[in-house]
Amino acid sequence: MSSSNGNPTRRNVLRGALAAGGAVMTAGAARAAGDPAITEIQTWNQALGDGVDARPYGTPSEFEAHVKRRNVEWLTADPVSSVNFTPLHELDGIITPNGLCFERHHAGIAEVDPAKHRLMINGLVDTPLVFTMQDILRFPRENRVYFLECAANSGMEWRGSQLNGCQFTHGMIHNVMYTGVPLRLLLEEAGVKTSGKWVMPEGADASAMTRSIPMEKALDDCLVAFKMNGEALRPEQGYPLRLVVPGWEGNMWVKWLRRLEVGDQPWHHREETSKYTDLLADGQARRFTWEMDAKSVITNPSPQAPILHGAGHTVLSGLAWSGRGTIPRVDVTLDGGNSWHAARMSGPSFEKSLHRFYYEFDWDGSPLLLQSRAHDSTGYVQPTKDQLREVRGVNSIYHNNGIQTWHVSESGVAENVEIS
Ligand code: MTE
Ligand code: CO
Repeated sequence: MSSSNGNPTRRNVLRGALAAGGAVMTAGAARAAGDPAITEIQTWNQALGDGVDARPYGTPSEFEAHVKRRNVEWLTADPVSSVNFTPLHELDGIITPNGLCFERHHAGIAEVDPAKHRLMINGLVDTPLVFTMQDILRFPRENRVYFLECAANSGMEWRGSQLNGCQFTHGMIHNVMYTGVPLRLLLEEAGVKTSGKWVMPEGADASAMTRSIPMEKALDDCLVAFKMNGEALRPEQGYPLRLVVPGWEGNMWVKWLRRLEVGDQPWHHREETSKYTDLLADGQARRFTWEMDAKSVITNPSPQAPILHGAGHTVLSGLAWSGRGTIPRVDVTLDGGNSWHAARMSGPSFEKSLHRFYYEFDWDGSPLLLQSRAHDSTGYVQPTKDQLREVRGVNSIYHNNGIQTWHVSESGVAENVEIS
């Protein structure tokens, strides 16, 4: 694991525990007497700040410098074909800020000049077409919020708990409002022949990423997106054009999208044969496992975000999502599953988007075994890791949506563990 993984030192944790003085405190307790943050005049109160010309493109406060994407050293043999992770424990709400969206690329970040970028539609169509970026902007566009989860998210946890932090166990996910043109409109413009049953998107980067997407999905809710959270896609996320394949594994969301070929059968390329297939215990491989199953994780407390205030009232927070719809309900347990409580859902509930949940409780300072369990709008319930292993074995990397456990010690330190 990266040495700069943001774990607080044990001393910090102890200091947090001591500050609470063992007493059960309410939030906003009166402890003002002698507090230098009140009695002393701070530097920012004495001098003029930066003017409106100082930050033409805003960046976070210098005190937020620890909030960043991180990679795992042993997963990063070469940074141009690797992954970094979203710091989920530092975020709230449901939207991932653009600069913190995890990155996964197979041949580095392509820096594409939009003036030279083209999107071609060819294959089994009436009229092969080539669009410039300006052409794309003349189609009706839509705004929709979706999560993108890499199929390999939590893939390092199949054989047991390994990475200490939800950034690393669950951070191959981001949730963004996309602005884009429905793929259906572009395909209709070219005229799909009746024999056209599959679409193959292709990237303009050096990996020329390709996948096979069934026509039904292509005509359903896929977008050809050019904006994320209101501004142009970041180069890391496929500027100037990426395919959005809602609810389906991230690998299919081809970045730097330059071509859509229509065919009558899947192409069986590398990313759907040797990769992104799930080897079962009996040696058979599951293929075309596109949908992301319902999943959840408690982001706070978690190994990178311990409880610092000692016993007393505390706010547990987390994320839940499903590739098949919304999340009407999340259950939370503090004792490893002996008793479950309904979490409080908060914020908008979009299909195939992250959902935020909270659970407020009085912590008595004794050790906790925290878990969350998502229910999606189809009635599917997130399985335990053991239930998942029973069906799928442990050979696979992909599609691990098992329930995550954090152990919280008396000092508030959280650790990735498993219980059976
Ligand atoms: N598209 C291209 N052209 N090249 C790539 O390497 N990586 C894929 C997919 N699309 C990739 C790509 C994988 S495996 C994932 S999980 C997502 O993009 C990651 O998207 P992100 O970098 O926006 O998080
Ligand atoms: Co991926």
